[in-house]
Amino acid sequence: MTLAVYPGSFDPITNGHIDILEKTSKIFDRIVVAVVHNVNKKALFDLEERVQLIKATTSHLKNIEVDYFNGLLINYMHNKQANVIIRGLRNVADFEYEMHMGMMNKKIAPDIDTIFVMSDSNFTYVSSSIVKEVALLNGNVEDLVPKIVNQALINKRAMLTKE
Ligand code: PNS
Repeated sequence: MTLAVYPGSFDPITNGHIDILEKTSKIFDRIVVAVVHNVNKKALFDLEERVQLIKATTSHLKNIEVDYFNGLLINYMHNKQANVIIRGLRNVADFEYEMHMGMMNKKIAPDIDTIFVMSDSNFTYVSSSIVKEVALLNGNVEDLVPKIVNQALINKRAMLTKE
């Protein structure tokens, strides 16, 4: 049984991430979406919110679980006995960053491989950061994120403008 891990910040999950999961859930037996818990990086959504949004938006994919990790991804992979990392590629800029990360992970853990999956062309410009920026400035991102994420962004914006 092949267990793959799809790691990321998912702050928040976008339609681009879901596209990657829909493609890879047909390839791997089981996928764990692993949300990085980085106490030094300020996220818009806290860990629990990010995990809940992923669970709610991937419930149609039966072989997907959601978890989180601290520290090195490779240590998490070994603890889970998983040997494939899934990463999405939208463009050449992604490739440069991903190649360095993939090579470093390979250096630390030669038993683990990174598999890159090409995003659908509809999502080449979609990232969590751009979605957050536009949504918090009152822009409409409803085509770029699942409904529940769009609502969560609207709620965040309302909360932040009240502060
Ligand atoms: O969604 P992101 O922010 O592009 O995901 C990046 C992530 C979480 C996959 C990467 O930063 C990571 O693996 N962080 C855990 C710490 C780690 O293992 N760093 C070494 C990477 S070579």
